[in-house]
Amino acid sequence: MAKFTLREEQALKVEELLKKMTVAEKVGQLHQLSPSIVGGFDVSFEELIEMLTEGRITNEEFGQMMEGAERDFHEEEIREGRIGSFLLDDPEKANELQRIAVEESRLGIPLLIGFDVIHGFQTVFPIPLGEACTWNQELFEASASIAAKEASSHNIRWTFAPMVDIARDARWGRISESPGEDPYLAGVYSRAKVRGFQGKEPGGQEHIAACLKHFAAYGAVESGQDYNTVSMAHSMLHNGYLPPVKAAVEEGAMTVMAAFNDYNGVPCTVNPYLLRKVLKKDYGFEGFVVSDATAIKECVAHGIAADLADASKKAIEAGMDMDMNSHAYHNHLETQVEDKTVSIETLNEAVRRVLSVKMALGLFERPYVSEEEMKRYEELPKEHKEAALETAKRSIVLLKNEQVLPLRKDQKIALVGELADMPMEVLGAWSLGGREKDCVSIYQGLKDAGASVTYQTCCGPESDFCKEALMEAAEDADVIVAVVGETSAMSGEAASRSDLTLPGQQQELLKEALATGKPVVAVLMNGRPLALAWEQEHVPAILECWQLGIEMGHAVADVLFGAYNPSGKLSCTFPAVTGQCPRYYNHPSTGRPAGKSKFTSRYLDAPLAPLYPFGYGLSYTEYRYEGFQLKETETAVLAQVTVRNEGSYGGEETVQLYVRDVTGSLVRPVKELKGFQKVRLSPGEAKKVLLSVEKKDLGFYNDEMEYLLEDGEFIFYVGGNSRDCMEQEISLKF
Ligand code: BGC
Repeated sequence: MAKFTLREEQALKVEELLKKMTVAEKVGQLHQLSPSIVGGFDVSFEELIEMLTEGRITNEEFGQMMEGAERDFHEEEIREGRIGSFLLDDPEKANELQRIAVEESRLGIPLLIGFDVIHGFQTVFPIPLGEACTWNQELFEASASIAAKEASSHNIRWTFAPMVDIARDARWGRISESPGEDPYLAGVYSRAKVRGFQGKEPGGQEHIAACLKHFAAYGAVESGQDYNTVSMAHSMLHNGYLPPVKAAVEEGAMTVMAAFNDYNGVPCTVNPYLLRKVLKKDYGFEGFVVSDATAIKECVAHGIAADLADASKKAIEAGMDMDMNSHAYHNHLETQVEDKTVSIETLNEAVRRVLSVKMALGLFERPYVSEEEMKRYEELPKEHKEAALETAKRSIVLLKNEQVLPLRKDQKIALVGELADMPMEVLGAWSLGGREKDCVSIYQGLKDAGASVTYQTCCGPESDFCKEALMEAAEDADVIVAVVGETSAMSGEAASRSDLTLPGQQQELLKEALATGKPVVAVLMNGRPLALAWEQEHVPAILECWQLGIEMGHAVADVLFGAYNPSGKLSCTFPAVTGQCPRYYNHPSTGRPAGKSKFTSRYLDAPLAPLYPFGYGLSYTEYRYEGFQLKETETAVLAQVTVRNEGSYGGEETVQLYVRDVTGSLVRPVKELKGFQKVRLSPGEAKKVLLSVEKKDLGFYNDEMEYLLEDGEFIFYVGGNSRDCMEQEISLKF
């Protein structure tokens, strides 16, 4: 698809509208709100939030109280044309508010209803970090397209996704929302997501606007602590962090959300380098930029703005088009334009962008959803569930297997671990449309598969280990399947962790399970890479299952019993110990690479290498790589390799191609993914795989954002992960 731009007749309509609008109406288009909570509790809303953050009430209790709360939907302001967008999932209310905007406001400009539809809406798919392990762009696109259908049936016409923050630090909770650490894989993912959400032509009834977030470098927050500061060279930003953003802008993404963090001293919310220069000028982005929630207001706490008025001026001038929930534009922009503190041209530009997206989405023609549409997905269609299952199976990564898996149906299973029977926990962070009735827990999945299974809770991420329960479950069992990991609330926003080992007493559960002498399978349910050095040493089989979405139980059962041969490949490095974070495969070369000698880049008290490298994932079969050759053409380098299935299971391998630019005018990464291909192989079968890298893609950006292609030596690698590769060197001139 091409970059987002309006058709001529639509652009004319936008200009006509702009001419008719008052300054107040223009500012209204830039104001986004969520329904305000006005009361209905015994304590004030602020106090309630405090109680939640201090742990005096649980998330569940908070949720229940919120359901009963009174809300203000700001109808009067909508009628006055002072609100342009609403954050809402309530189709009836959305229609009602839309009717006020369209039929009762002076110019009848529809609202843009947005919502966080991150990894599915009602059909919840695996968390993005897990979905990225499929390395499958058809699936990336299909899940976004299903999400768009379901969300648009609720009159949600804008999602705050895809989140394409490159995440190299597993301590950061939002790594679960991201496609992982690699800019190339994230680029494939972000393009596919934009196609899936927006369709071929923006404005289709069942399509919604995508929002790339968070711009920029949010994944690099210092020490993995959420909302923290980010400092990095422009060259690192452009080579390591922005490729998925650039790719998605080229694919036609209609909106972008600025990140909470500062970038080199200037919060992204008010950062003209990022918003005006890189995004709008260099990338030629014609959609609009929205702030993150209350981020304009937070510029005061950042110490970059004196007060809300100052933040309003700085944001609009930096190129921030829409204010999410800060009330900065709402309270100050009209006066600022009238007294010429902010120019009318600056305001017009932002409004033009917002109206362009509304126009392209077809909101002026179709502002409402029908009763029938609203109810369309009350029961999920079979094909949505099938897609969720397909993606979930392919997201599972086999980390270790000492001839324990697959299990046979006649083996008696002792299933233990609280997470195995918590249906809503399959959803993971940011799955606001998910419903319990659609969720299949692992316990349910095993029962549906006809397994002979005895279940005991035994231990959870936050509940103590009970040895008696384990003994009871294990007594007659042939194998113990222990479901361990994190709750959904342990990843996602504001969920950074400083210790990545299994939380609570879950390792105790594994130790005691091993002490029974029966084979043990650790099934991991988590939202980030964990530090699993102990588990890798002791547990004979480990399956990384993430939070796989509504069909989790069926997907896990299919893999445990070998109905599906695992094919997932890690989208992120797993450190051996937390102290190795941030750990990622494509780091810049150092003068003293980690080695045996003390005076190399290493820790005294941790292994040199991470536990599982990027791209890693085992299968029930074995693949052998042979006959790796390179061939140069005028415009590309062609890599050919034969992959042979040497085991007794059919399967699918992801053949990965990495490149190292040996010498450059800037320090280059030790290895970078430049392509991959999936190949299906029956037992004994061998296939030639051909991968091509365009020469123009072998360059890099310097700090001035110039793209350099430098002659010299390049090493090409192929393999089934980023560590175990065959290599060939080639000398290239551009
Ligand atoms: C998050 C965004 C999200 C927004 C709206 C913020 O707290 O950082 O990713 O889209 O809330 O819900």
